[in-house]
Amino acid sequence: MAVKARLFDRQQRHDRFHQDAKKEGYAARSVYKLQEIDKKYRFIYRGARILDLGCYPGSWLQYCAKKNGNKPHTLVGVDRIDLAITIPHARIIVGDVMQLKAADLVSSETPAFDIVLSDMAPDTTGIRHVDQSRSELLFEQALQLATQTLAPQGCFVGKLFQGGGMNSLIAHVKSHFNSINIIKPKSSRTKSIEQYIVAQGFHQSP
Ligand SMILES: C[S@@+](CC[C@H](N)C(=O)[O-])C[C@H]1O[C@@H](n2cnc3c(N)ncnc32)[C@H](O)[C@@H]1O
Repeated sequence: MAVKARLFDRQQRHDRFHQDAKKEGYAARSVYKLQEIDKKYRFIYRGARILDLGCYPGSWLQYCAKKNGNKPHTLVGVDRIDLAITIPHARIIVGDVMQLKAADLVSSETPAFDIVLSDMAPDTTGIRHVDQSRSELLFEQALQLATQTLAPQGCFVGKLFQGGGMNSLIAHVKSHFNSINIIKPKSSRTKSIEQYIVAQGFHQSP
């Protein structure tokens, strides 16, 4: 293992959030990003129907299941990678979000969602503008699926790498939601350029 990779591996293992996640039985440290966003904007409630795009390894779904009471037909997760853990009652779709349509996500039991989450991250190259534009494409697709599957007044939370296309994407979000906030959670690594757009009060465009 190269020196840099070994150092990164050590940092990961010693990271406070990583250790907390392990202790609390969460599949990943990213759970604390969702927890912080939810504590601040209070959008996950009992019975809420939630779609989680980019759900592997499953910590956001674990958190959502705890908060929404985990009733049948309330949780749908999508990722290219299948989960290694089981979330009772959750419907997991293994596939590429870029290839999915709204009709693949809704069903007669879950005809719409109250919350759509996207923690999708692209395969990074280390070339900043390439990674940013890949992240923008994922965000745009998540937003499109959200506007097609959200119930009125629903909420969308999407991860976006800070970059040139951010303003026009945010303008697009604003045309569909009553309030928009941008947050970089404390558990997000300092060097990461990720931010989360929190959009509440969904309505169709005027
Ligand atoms: C940071 S991880 C998500 C972690 C998750 N929120 C959790 O807490 O367990 C990002 C995920 O996005 C997924 N992803 C990226 N692009 C995707 C795509 N086009 N379709 C489906 N999943 C995708 C990756 O496979 C990866 O598992």
